[in-house]
Amino acid sequence: MIKIKNLKVKVTWEKKEILKWVNLTFELWKNYCLLWKNWSGKSTLSSFLMWHPKYKYISWDVTLNWENLLDLNPEERSVKWLFLSFQNVPEIKGIKLSEYLRTIYNINLKNNSPEIKELSPFIFKRFIKKYLAELDIDEKFLDRELNVWFSWWEKRKIEILQMKLIWPKYIILDEIDSGLDLDAFRTIAEMLKALSSNENTLIIITHYFKILEFIDVDKVYVMKDWEIVKEGDMKLAKEISETGFKDL
Ligand SMILES: Nc1ncnc2c1ncn2[C@@H]1O[C@H](COP(=O)(O)OP(=O)(O)OP(=O)(O)O)[C@@H](O)[C@H]1O
Ligand SMILES: [Mg+2]
Repeated sequence: MIKIKNLKVKVTWEKKEILKWVNLTFELWKNYCLLWKNWSGKSTLSSFLMWHPKYKYISWDVTLNWENLLDLNPEERSVKWLFLSFQNVPEIKGIKLSEYLRTIYNINLKNNSPEIKELSPFIFKRFIKKYLAELDIDEKFLDRELNVWFSWWEKRKIEILQMKLIWPKYIILDEIDSGLDLDAFRTIAEMLKALSSNENTLIIITHYFKILEFIDVDKVYVMKDWEIVKEGDMKLAKEISETGFKDL
């Protein structure tokens, strides 16, 4: 469970507060949707959960699986099953995609099944073929630098590939549905639907409602003027899709 109590965040070098008194709970096995207006701090919250050097936490009480989140570095958070699909997927020069994927796979393997031997580059390339085929990713991509010059659609597929390799339990999707054409959106939504199970939690951050036609969410949190103003189920999402935030 991720439990956030009275979280208040500001940018390190500015006076501006970005998040004010956020209280949220994400239980394992359930799916969530954060319907918050632009600039309300959704990406800040996502970065905070995953770790980010730019923010200062003024007040917080946040636990991941009952451990104090701020005691954990990003690697530890990741092996404790937290995964962030970025709003803006970073391009990282100098890191080969195959090596990156092999590293996260092996770290995860070591953490969950220390008795199993890690995969060598040669074995990993054979092992990953079926995943590439499932996601229709060209094998030549393995020799490219991580996300460098990848299209938006390709970057998204690489994120889903990572989820399939390490099976994170808490998956934050920061606007995964933006920037995709209709067919690409449908494919990504179908992939996420297939990935969603009673062993993981999807935290969907979106400005659109179409993705909710593919993935059932148990709880919707609505943020307005820096505070969570409403919690509800799919009915609330439907209401907002019709009337917007103004009536809240
Ligand atoms: N590192 C930073 N430096 C300065 N301001 C920042 C920083 N990070 C976030 N902010 C500010 O905090 C506010 C919230 O930003 P954030 O990106 O978290 O919003 P968001 O809800 O994800 O918005 P969007 O829906 O547009 O993606 C914005 O006004 C943004 O300019
Ligand atoms: Mg954002």
